[in-house]
Amino acid sequence: MKEMIQQLRERQDADDESLKQLLVTSDWDRMLFREADLVRRKIYGDDVYVRGLIEFTNYCRNDCYYCGIRRSNHHVKRYRLTKEEILACCREGYLLGFRTFVLQGGEDSYYKDDLICQMVSSIRKEFPDCIVTLSIGERSRESYQAFYDAGARRYLLRHETADDAYYQKLHPAGMLLENRKRCLFDLKEIGFQVGAGFMVGPPFQTVEHLLTDLRFLQKLQPDMIGIGPFLTQKDTPFSGFTNGSLSLTLRLIALLRLMFPYALIPATTALGTIHPQGREMGLKAGANVVMPNLSPVGVRNLYALYDNKICTGEEAAQCRDCLERRVSAAGYHIVTDVGNVKRK
Ligand code: 5AD
Ligand code: FES
Repeated sequence: MKEMIQQLRERQDADDESLKQLLVTSDWDRMLFREADLVRRKIYGDDVYVRGLIEFTNYCRNDCYYCGIRRSNHHVKRYRLTKEEILACCREGYLLGFRTFVLQGGEDSYYKDDLICQMVSSIRKEFPDCIVTLSIGERSRESYQAFYDAGARRYLLRHETADDAYYQKLHPAGMLLENRKRCLFDLKEIGFQVGAGFMVGPPFQTVEHLLTDLRFLQKLQPDMIGIGPFLTQKDTPFSGFTNGSLSLTLRLIALLRLMFPYALIPATTALGTIHPQGREMGLKAGANVVMPNLSPVGVRNLYALYDNKICTGEEAAQCRDCLERRVSAAGYHIVTDVGNVKRK
């Protein structure tokens, strides 16, 4: 196993059996995390990049079984932010040192391409030294091109699972893995820095599924890879299941760092929710990005993908300070930088 981990670091690859073996046991975690941290320090030093997350709409036309803001959840109070409200979040974020703004939302057809483009170009105009990331789900190639032309440069779209049959277990009929993949490859071709990813431990997920995800990521070669534990949300069809595992999530972060040494890997909010020190542990296992919330406090608790989400009562500045302390305590430091992916 020891050689296997070293090989993984040298070749950024391993055969299916070895990868599965690494996934199913925590016996090698210490070594795995240490190697992952060495790789991350060699490329990124102790820098941690921050992204200011603006959750601008919780309306969603999709009905994913795991997600708290799914269309069928009638307990959710829905909200939309205006362009001005979004700009106000950016202004506050800019003063706090953020140089990347992530506009994330449900798949909300209220925001037609034109409106998204206006939002993007207004942010670009006021903050020319900042990068705009979009995370608004599946759209046509033409829409993606328009967003790029308006100035967006990064796009986050988790593939959720790269296994067709399993994709169907997580999503209602009508949502297709094929289209998700099409979106990701279109985005890449257009020139976006692309982020993919998946949840760890949603109902019925197997080690085989995770292996399929790793193989898919090898094909896609994304710049960013976001993973976090599945967490139940009480008003979804998956409410009765158990949360994903912290230790498996950390192991996967370390594996990802070894297989994709240059990737931007966030220590996600879900990781911070499943354990009070989850994000710190994620950083020590190879993650190098954190994405604090910049949304107005009044709507924060409404973007509840899962129960008990952290930071929903905090002001942006409080979150920023809290994160600064947490990141330093873990042995890293936050940089004020657009935080681009480094390449070979
Ligand atoms: N638990 C953890 N992560 C979730 N997501 C959605 N619902 C949940 C949940 N219940 C993740 C999905 C989505 C991202 C925005 O949040 O992977 O792509
Ligand atoms: Fe938000 Fe700690 S990061 S309060």
